[in-house]
Amino acid sequence: MRTRMGALTLGRLLGEQWRSAGPTYLGLAGRLRALVLDGRLPLDVRVPSERQLAEQLHLSRTTVTAAYDHLREDGFLRSRQGSGSWTAVPGGVRPTGGAIAPATSSELAGDVIDLAAATLPADGVAVRAAYEAALLELPRHLPGVGYDAAGVPEARRAVAEAFEARGLRTDPSQVVVTSGAVSAWALLLRVLVQPGDRVVVEQPTYPNALEAARRAGARLVPAPLGDLDEPSWDLDAWRAVLRQSAPTLGYVLPDCHNPTGAVMGAAQRAELVAAADAVGTTLVVDETLVDLRLDGRAPEPPLASFSDSVVTVGGVSKSAWAGLRLGWVRAPRDLADRLVEARLSWDLGTAVLGQLALAHLLRDPDREAHAQARRDEVRVRRDVLEVALRRELPAWRWRTPQGGLSLWAELDHRSSSSMAEMAGAHGLRLAAGPRFGVDGALERYLRLPFVVPADRVDEAVRRLAGLAAAAADQRPTRLVV
Ligand SMILES: Cc1ncc(COP(=O)(O)O)c(C=O)c1O
Repeated sequence: MRTRMGALTLGRLLGEQWRSAGPTYLGLAGRLRALVLDGRLPLDVRVPSERQLAEQLHLSRTTVTAAYDHLREDGFLRSRQGSGSWTAVPGGVRPTGGAIAPATSSELAGDVIDLAAATLPADGVAVRAAYEAALLELPRHLPGVGYDAAGVPEARRAVAEAFEARGLRTDPSQVVVTSGAVSAWALLLRVLVQPGDRVVVEQPTYPNALEAARRAGARLVPAPLGDLDEPSWDLDAWRAVLRQSAPTLGYVLPDCHNPTGAVMGAAQRAELVAAADAVGTTLVVDETLVDLRLDGRAPEPPLASFSDSVVTVGGVSKSAWAGLRLGWVRAPRDLADRLVEARLSWDLGTAVLGQLALAHLLRDPDREAHAQARRDEVRVRRDVLEVALRRELPAWRWRTPQGGLSLWAELDHRSSSSMAEMAGAHGLRLAAGPRFGVDGALERYLRLPFVVPADRVDEAVRRLAGLAAAAADQRPTRLVV
């Protein structure tokens, strides 16, 4: 069943600016097209009838009919007698996105700068010390069989203590140690989602989480994050999506959102959780980037502090090193038990040595100092990137990220996919905007990670500006690369 968007909600999304330039029907059609391309108006959504929209916008019905006709001709709207009209993309191209793969050594050979991945090298001192301590402890575990699908007790306790330190009562029995946050999310999908179930996600969001949900057979339902002028979560739209599609699961990144770096405030957290609880949607919050808050403000309360039904996944890939391949789920006890059971036919658990290292990393008395040093380094890289972008690409727009490892730039032309396709020839690696959306939207956006060492940023942005100029006139041959 297609979701519907009411005239009131669409009127709010449209805003008023489109009324100011040129013929009204063209302004309306152009604004609707931009909303589809930006993913704020998802694909396959039934739009209000011409009469309803005309009433809402105080326009004549002929004007709305002309705008809809125009969109139909361009392929952004499709209609069938008796079924109304729904949003589409030209040619019916429905890209499937795909996970972002780490660069291979051959891709990085010959001086290519990687702006596709948003990840850092290890905090070498902390990681080495954690493994050294873990090696000393390993002999205690060798008399055991080494299988423990929930995780070794030390690691579960250390994760629970880390939640407690943030004010969230957590029993170790609620914790399952996994091979990273994505693996935790995939395990949750395996247990909670049947093929065809709906999963609501932010648009934009982390591509690899999207791909995990697709592979679990989920039907992805996008909910907008707001735009550059209104960067917080659009909770009216979230409420409408939740009410209309009652998704089984929701996947959210309120803590240093990937790709925008936005942080959700406490009041919005309470509202979002209440809206999800009201329709029985289980929210899964991915806190992978929570330690990378860059604006120096006090941390927001964890999303799980608003309801016992919220499930949290997290890990140390961004704060310490992705090479650890360690993460966790914090869930209500009965769900944690189901996750453990599901692992018995999947991976049977996580390597013991790494889990012992994880416990040390989390209990390291210098943990906060290490995290602060990493934030300081990342902040410098972010600031240098912003200066270079303002100089080389002054027409691009973005919000300074409150945290995380990337900014989300709105381009001055619609060629994110073309840029990604052509990046190699300009010595770059890029992930196109549509990767971060559900259905091929977000073509005017590009995620720019600030993980490149500060002394390489100027060169990276110079190449980006050259590439942007070359790609400006291209139409993408595919919507996703
Ligand atoms: C939001 C988010 N979740 C999860 C991950 C990956 O986490 P892990 O390495 O723990 O699987 C990333 C990495 O970019 C991410 O940005």
